[in-house]
Amino acid sequence: MFTTNGPKWAEQRRAAQPAFNGNHLRGMFETMREATDEMLARWDAYAADDREIGLTSEAMRLALDIALRTMFGVRMTGQAKIIYDALNVILPELERRVWAITPLANWLPRSKVRACNGAIEAIDRVVADIIRQWLEAEDRPDDLLSMLIAAEETQWGPHSMKRLRDQVVIFLVAGHETTATTLAWSWYTACRSPR
Ligand code: HEM
Repeated sequence: MFTTNGPKWAEQRRAAQPAFNGNHLRGMFETMREATDEMLARWDAYAADDREIGLTSEAMRLALDIALRTMFGVRMTGQAKIIYDALNVILPELERRVWAITPLANWLPRSKVRACNGAIEAIDRVVADIIRQWLEAEDRPDDLLSMLIAAEETQWGPHSMKRLRDQVVIFLVAGHETTATTLAWSWYTACRSPR
């Protein structure tokens, strides 16, 4: 959706829109609260050990956890950890490529490029697993993934898995990095003015 225009964009936008209506969002509050409570319990354990808390990484973890649970019905299990680690490799590399002086450097077989390609493959495998689990499940949740798959099912073809994978990755990246950064800045500001 992020990278399309015209009728193709409109079709994808229509498919995803119901996942973001008020009733649907209200239905996510309890899941958001659960994920936040789990994070606060983790912070209590850090505090008991007198350990520092990394605000940015905690915000990223919370936002990704909520995005995975609410949009795709996945909890912070092994799959989520793989996505979390992979995005930590891909996003800094993406930023580096955007600011690179010569685009050629992006394609040289350097270790960072290899690590980035490996991370993309890891995400692809997890996303394919999530979609396969959904297709095999008897009790299908009423989440964003269901809406994306329902829209795709009417025109299922050889490229469907790739299109779904692209949509899932777009929502994961667009939905978690933005909110995590906003949250990290809010916490930082609150820490500087505790009252
Ligand atoms: C503080 C949080 C967020 C900020 C600051 C933010 C910012 C933006 C901005 C500026 C755009 C427009 C980009 C453009 O015109 O090219 C956009 C589009 C988009 N955002 Fe967000 N976003 C946030 C949260 C989210 C969340 C939580 C999701 C998903 C759950 C999401 C998914 C998307 C998608 C799919 C688009 C493309 C929409 C379209 O093309 O119709 N964003 N966002």
